Amino acid sequence: MEDRIIDVEEKQEDVFEKNIRPESLEEYIGQTEIKENIRVFIKAALMREEPLDHVLLYGPPGLGKTTLAHIIANELGTNIKTASGPSIEKTGDLAAILSTLEPGDVLFIDEIHRMPKFIEEVLYPAMEDFEIDLVIGETGKSRNIKIDLPPFTLVGATTRAGDISSPLRDRFGIISKLEYYKNEELECILKRTSRVLGMPIEDAAAKELSGRCRKTPRIANRLFKRVRDFTLVEGNSKITKEITLRSLERLKVDAYGLDAIDIEYLTSLITKFNGGPVGVETIATSIGEEVSTIEDVVEPFLLQEGFIKRTPRGRVATEKSYDHLKINHNESMF
Ligand SMILES: Nc1ncnc2c1ncn2[C@@H]1O[C@H](COP(=O)(O)OP(=O)(O)OP(=O)(O)O)[C@@H](O)[C@H]1O
Ligand SMILES: [Mg+2]
Repeated sequence: MEDRIIDVEEKQEDVFEKNIRPESLEEYIGQTEIKENIRVFIKAALMREEPLDHVLLYGPPGLGKTTLAHIIANELGTNIKTASGPSIEKTGDLAAILSTLEPGDVLFIDEIHRMPKFIEEVLYPAMEDFEIDLVIGETGKSRNIKIDLPPFTLVGATTRAGDISSPLRDRFGIISKLEYYKNEELECILKRTSRVLGMPIEDAAAKELSGRCRKTPRIANRLFKRVRDFTLVEGNSKITKEITLRSLERLKVDAYGLDAIDIEYLTSLITKFNGGPVGVETIATSIGEEVSTIEDVVEPFLLQEGFIKRTPRGRVATEKSYDHLKINHNESMF
């Protein structure tokens, strides 16, 4: 079956994700500034009895955009309808979702940068005036109809803010960039997950994991699950630091939380391209990954942590990369 716009079916992974996913602003850890602002805007919207302004959330994958969208709906006390940019292929698809909205509902569009341009244009009047103009019938006999919509809040999420057209961006009243998490925040997230899943974790183990999850809650939770598996199979009832270290080694997650792809990327950049500058397409080809994976998933963290730099002529490995891979900077010249 094709991807449906409103996916009612739950995927296996989501069942797990759902119960560890915080459901209120109170439970949502970190992102303090965004959280406090959104709290005020929600309160004001409720006081005015008007829908919340449209919200655009952007930032690298796994930082909590989808989670926050659901929380916004919960805090507003409304329903959330979800769709994703690439699955809205026809104007009719968008009209179908919009027609299910009830006053005050949240419409969440994930990967909003991947929505076709002509759909975007239908969305403008929907966002601004809560109405859509549809053309129906064949060419020659077509006519325009205007449909009124209930007031609603669009929450858009994207990993690529730069790919959003400015007319679309301008129609969001609230634009928030999610930041990478601090280690202490990740420790809180891990301890919360431990409570929710009923698998205790030693403080020292949580601390260790928090430093190895690329500052990303999704990875923290994923590592937690795997370490929990090792713990269970070994017949233990608590995640210890010792098991954590052994598991991480088996999972090939290193001291910075870099995994096999990151290491391949850096090794390739240094050994095949002399540390750069080299274009992202070239690196992608050399390690057999998609450019979009490299740009959206691999590079943001490497840039943030100073392993690479972006220059007009391409990517460059920094001293930190050479040190981390234990490659002598001058040796690699030969
Ligand atoms: N602030 C937070 N506090 C606690 N847990 C969080 C937080 N943010 C995210 N998580 C956890 O991390 C997981 C990933 O978050 P989420 O799916 O919202 O990320 P995303 O930004 O939508 O990622 P993508 O760009 O890939 O869609 C969630 O299942 C949730 O359990
Ligand atoms: Mg998401």
